[in-house]
This record gives sequence, structure tokens and C-alpha cells, in this order.
Amino acid sequence: MDPVEPVEPAETFTAEELQRKLGAEAGEVETARASAGDGLGTGGDGTMAAPSDNPLASKLLAKLQRRTATIGIIGQGYVGLPLALLFSEEGFSVVGFDVDPAKVEMLNRGESYIRHIGPERVNAARERSRQDGAAGLESTAGFEATTDFSRLDDCDAIIICVPTPLGVHRDPDLSYVRETAAEIQKHLKPGQLVVLESTTYPGTTDEEVLPILEQSDLATPDDFFLAFSPEREDPGNKEFGTKSIPKVVGGVNELSTYVAAALYAQVMDQVVPVSHARVAESSKLLENIYRSVNIALVNELKMIFERMDIDIWEVIEAAKTKPFGFQAFYPGPGLGGHCIPLDPFYLSWKASEYGHWTRFIELAGEINTSMPQWVAAHTVRALNDEGKSIKDARVLILGLSYKADIDDDRESPSYEIIELLRDLGADVSYCDPHIPRSHAGRHHDVVMAGVPCTAEELARYDAVVLMTAHEEFGEAALYERAQLVIDTRNAVPAGVAARVVKA
Ligand SMILES: NC(=O)c1ccc[n+]([C@@H]2O[C@H](COP(=O)([O-])OP(=O)(O)OC[C@H]3O[C@@H](n4cnc5c(N)ncnc54)[C@H](O)[C@@H]3O)[C@@H](O)[C@H]2O)c1
Repeated sequence: MDPVEPVEPAETFTAEELQRKLGAEAGEVETARASAGDGLGTGGDGTMAAPSDNPLASKLLAKLQRRTATIGIIGQGYVGLPLALLFSEEGFSVVGFDVDPAKVEMLNRGESYIRHIGPERVNAARERSRQDGAAGLESTAGFEATTDFSRLDDCDAIIICVPTPLGVHRDPDLSYVRETAAEIQKHLKPGQLVVLESTTYPGTTDEEVLPILEQSDLATPDDFFLAFSPEREDPGNKEFGTKSIPKVVGGVNELSTYVAAALYAQVMDQVVPVSHARVAESSKLLENIYRSVNIALVNELKMIFERMDIDIWEVIEAAKTKPFGFQAFYPGPGLGGHCIPLDPFYLSWKASEYGHWTRFIELAGEINTSMPQWVAAHTVRALNDEGKSIKDARVLILGLSYKADIDDDRESPSYEIIELLRDLGADVSYCDPHIPRSHAGRHHDVVMAGVPCTAEELARYDAVVLMTAHEEFGEAALYERAQLVIDTRNAVPAGVAARVVKA
């Protein structure tokens, strides 16, 4: 007998299909199941109770379907803001909560502080509020930002999009999530739905958020609904956005899954209900660990192939021609952003509670975090080949953001390179068309203004280190007077006059 039980593939619903299911009078609705009878709190027969058993759920579902529900989104950052705009664009009244008054004021003025989220979208959402308000409509399809958490009283669904960083010892820092849950608890009303979207370890929703909400004396699923739905936003991705990326949803009980799936089905193209919040939390970690491990693999191969005088980039292009069983990942100067460098360690921390050591995650972390040193060493060696010392060399970093064509510099390896080269005595500047000034971060205090991204400027440096493959850095003319270029992204066009060293 095969010891491994076959697992049903996750069932996905388009908004229309889910809508039909929600409208069904059959009394029971099929749900996607990772595996039947998995002990995670759902029934073993792949069904969940009809919401009509619970009048609060029925009322909320009706409000969602009529789009008269008010959606509160806590945290108006890279994740929360586009989500708020989507709900508003789809006809819901949205309140965006944030603790940063400067962001709130900007948003209420109809401005965006995130470059790839156009101010016209924020402005249009604000305008809808004004028009519907002026027309005296009870429910406005608009958007308003606030620092006033008493406005949670007005919300039917509350989505949490606050940061989940690591602490100094690389332990999960859930303080933002806990503070937010405590704030919600003060305002929790019967019939509200709460969804956590911040990336975190399996168990956070039912072990951390639920006990805080239950201090209100309300219980789920009788009085309120609680689910986890991972945010899969890829800032700057022109092909997939908030609406078109399938939305995985798992509640702490079946009814919560059902209600949360209904919320997202109103605005997302596809919803993927799973059997429990823990499955939804884990699926996000799997996605990010998969990326981290595969990036580490190509980074390791890059170092090996360089010794063999083989270009990793050409190898990947060749391997990519296999039409099945291979997905290309690319080496780079180190990981950046709010997700891949941090999220895998949320699982490492939780796994140790179960006596497991996440060796793949640790090894990938070790390789990926060593990449800035590798780039720094290549810069030193390339200058040496030119008869120059790194001490007092003028070095220009091309790109502060951690990935191409966005203005997000969180955890960017560019900062580490700048600090490493400065420690060696180099005089380091940067240019980034998306980030005119750098600000101190959690792990660095590099504060300076960027220099212009022009060929004249590049000519002034002993070495230029390309860290981010911004579109602007793909222009051959930019490098026509450069002396030496260290290319960590294989993004410098072929045939430029400067000596180009890949690193
Ligand atoms: N940025 C991404 O590409 C991305 C992708 C997928 C998942 N995520 C996850 O989504 C979550 C949010 O990430 P982000 O990139 O939007 O972060 P962010 O830093 O851009 O935004 C978070 C916002 O929350 C606000 N905030 C902090 N504490 C708050 C509180 N107590 N109450 C209200 N607002 C508060 C901050 O002022 C900020 O505006 C994280 O868990 C992250 O791992 C991010």
C-alpha cells in the first residue's frame, strides 16, 4: 500500500463561481481541502456549514454582496495601500488606518508616497468619497485615511497589513501584529470579520491574534470571524497585481474561511480557500522559502562556475530552454526587501519549538547574506587589476532599491556594500532614479543624497557597481565614459567601452 495519502489539489474559485456558491440554498458549500480529515478543525467530509446557520454571517455576506460593507485596512504601506485602493475601486467604502500621520495626510490630499502606486488612483478614490458624500449616499465608494482607531467601529471587515520584521536576534517581531490586535479588540463588534495578511509563522492567527480578540468576551465563529490570507504583492510587477494574483484564504474555523473567501471574492479574480489559517500561513512561507533556497543555489553555482571560467548567466539561459521541470532563478548581490530575507526565519524560529532545524533555510540564508562580501571583494580585486587601491578610490553604486524599477530600499544589499567599501576607505556615492535621498534603516545609517545618473557623472569614478537592474541602467550610452563597471545583475549592455567585471 502506498504510505502517502494522495492530496487533493487546491480548488480555486473565480469571483463568479464563489458568488454562485454563496447564493446557493443547498445548505452546504464545498470547500477546497488540502486533505480530508486533517485534524485542523474542519469536518472530514470536505464541506462547511452554511452561513445561514449564523445570522451575523448571513448579514455580513449580504452586505458584502451588495457592496455596502465598510472595509478597514490597517497599515497603509506597500501592501495595505494597493489593497485599500482596489476595494474602493470595486465599490466599497474603505477606511485606511495608519500610525504615521504624515502618510495619512498625504493620502487624504490624494497623493501617493509610493512611486509605483500612481497618485491618480489615490486621488480618484478620494474624489469618489467626496462625490458620494455630497450626494448624501449612506455608503460611499471611497477612501479615507485616518490615525483614529475608533473608526474601527464603522468597519464590517478589518484587514491587518502591518510589518512583521525580525528582531536583533532574528526572532519574529510580532509587536506590530499584537498591538494591532489589541487595538481591534477594543472595538470588536459582533459580526465583524478580521483578516491577518502580514507574513508570519504558522499558528500566529489562532495562537496570537485569536486570544487577544477573545479578551473582548466575543467568540468565533458565533460572534466574529477570523482568518489569515497571505499577501502576495509583487511591487512593480506589470503582469500581476493585487486583483489578479489568486488569493489564498484560511480561517480559524470553517465559517471564518467562508466569510473571508466571500470578502475577497468580491474584488479578486480568484480565491483559493484552504482548510485552516495555518495552511494559508504556511503556503506563503513555502513560496518565499522556495525563492530564497533557489536564489542561494544559483548564487553558489555562480561562485563555482566563476572558478571554472563559466558564465552563470549563459548557463541559466541554456537551462531555461527546457520546457518542463526547470524554473530560472538568477544570482545577485544579496537579498533585499521586506519578504525573502526575513520570512523564512519566521519558520526557523517556529520549527525549533518542535525540535526541528530548518537546514535548507539556514544554508540559503548563509549563502545569500554572504553575497555583498563577494561583490565587495570583486570590486577590490578589479580595482587592483587597474593598479588602484580601494582606499580613497571613488566608487559609485548604481541602484539603492532591492529590485528593479521600484523605490523600495528596505533590507537592500546596496547599503551593506556601501558600508563595506567605506570601511575599506573608499569614497562611495550612489545614484538611483527612484530614490533621490537615502534614509537611515534598521541596519544601517547611510544618509546621503544621490548623484545624477548621467554618463558625465559615471566618468568621475574609479569604479561603478551596478546593484539594481533599473531600466535606466540598461542604456549603453550611460557607460560610454565609465572606467570600470562591476555588474552584479548581468544588466550592463554588451559592447560598452568600459571594462565590465561580473560579480
Ligand atoms: N512589500 C511587499 O512586497 C510584501 C509582499 C508580501 C507580503 N508582505 C508582508 O505584508 C506586511 C506589510 O508589509 P508592507 O511592505 O506593506 O510594510 P510597510 O512598512 O510598507 O507598511 C506597513 C505600514 O503599517 C504602518 N503601521 C505600523 N504599525 C502600525 C500599527 N500598529 N497600526 C497601523 N499601522 C501601522 C506603517 O506606518 C506602514 O505604513 C508584512 O508582513 C510583509 O512581510 C509585504
